[in-house]
Amino acid sequence: MTQKKRIRTTEFSSDNKGEFVVRFGLNNSPLFSYFAPGRVNLIGEHTDYNGGLVLPCALDMGTTLLIRFNQSHRVRFASTNFHFSATIDRTDLTKKQGHEWINYPIGVMNQFLDKLIPLAGMDLLYSGNIPYGAGLSSSASIEMVTAFALNDLYGTGWTMIDMIKASKKAENEFVGVNCGIMDQFIVGMGQHNHALFLNCDSLDFELVPFDLKSHLLIITNTNKKRGLADSKYNERVEECKKSLQYLNTILSLNNLGELNLETFSKYETLIPDATLRKRARHVVSENRRVVEAKKALKMNDLDYFGKLMYASHDSLRFDYEVTGNELDVLVDESKCIEGVLGSRMTGAGFGGCTVTLIMKDKIKHFISEVSKAYIRKTGLIPEFYPVQIGNGVRSID
Ligand code: GLA
Repeated sequence: MTQKKRIRTTEFSSDNKGEFVVRFGLNNSPLFSYFAPGRVNLIGEHTDYNGGLVLPCALDMGTTLLIRFNQSHRVRFASTNFHFSATIDRTDLTKKQGHEWINYPIGVMNQFLDKLIPLAGMDLLYSGNIPYGAGLSSSASIEMVTAFALNDLYGTGWTMIDMIKASKKAENEFVGVNCGIMDQFIVGMGQHNHALFLNCDSLDFELVPFDLKSHLLIITNTNKKRGLADSKYNERVEECKKSLQYLNTILSLNNLGELNLETFSKYETLIPDATLRKRARHVVSENRRVVEAKKALKMNDLDYFGKLMYASHDSLRFDYEVTGNELDVLVDESKCIEGVLGSRMTGAGFGGCTVTLIMKDKIKHFISEVSKAYIRKTGLIPEFYPVQIGNGVRSID
């Protein structure tokens, strides 16, 4: 999740071929291009690693990868977004490279090596237009575009689910963040104008049409540095495990996602610690909201969907405590703007972005009013990205 050293963001262009040649020079091997989107989670936050339900969609923003074999023993990495570039001998691919962004693709490469798929020398140029470290899954996008490209070029025959699992494993085991499977899943399986309802335990999923017509999703970036986000995230994962252990002194649950609100209310006093109890309550109540949100989408009841977004934010604010002043100000301000149906933090929290469902014709007013209030209250300058719901990872020409 952490993408350090944001240097510059380029607009997405499928044609970074000139840049590729500048970085790596010419050779006779063909150049291949791939794209993986970022994602925005509409509802179902911090439920995935609890075997719960989520409802994200893929974005039209994402990461392109240009890749070519180089007939050497070296793998060369570069990015148009980060200054850091590296040349790594094939035999050194098992080593972590500090906190650099290349650990995401290297982590994925290790998944191929673990399956005894030998990797040849390659040149890779990554280029993204997802704001990095903003909770829009730039890391899953880098992982999945790498997994998809390697699978395609090496003919390994992995299914999309294999690539999703390998990318998650790369992040858990190589990068060291105990994320759930939501991000990699939606980056792999997303579909234009659809949200994806996913049970993160069984991996059963359903694509739910979400054609916005007179509405729009707008993402607002707090531009707050996320600092200790990864360690706080891992702390929440541990808190959920502890709550589960307490509940399992009587129940026998595989994860918190199996609990419904009624059973939880009956047994919550098994958790002696008030904070842990709140964490578990968030997971259980959020699951219920995801089910309701899916129904609302199917019935095209966007007003109700918006109310669920606000309720989700409140639960993340008071029970899960992952929002913080900046995200809360954005959501509170959105409530004062006509035409806003709902708003909430999206992703891991502790900074990052909100997602807001709004009538298209109110967007200008929203941007100017929320900007003014946010700058006044936090001293930070927000950024706004009206987004379209895009497709999952793919090769491009
Ligand atoms: C991050 C993680 C996801 C998920 C969200 C919170 O994006 O990568 O797996 O846990 O936070 O819902």
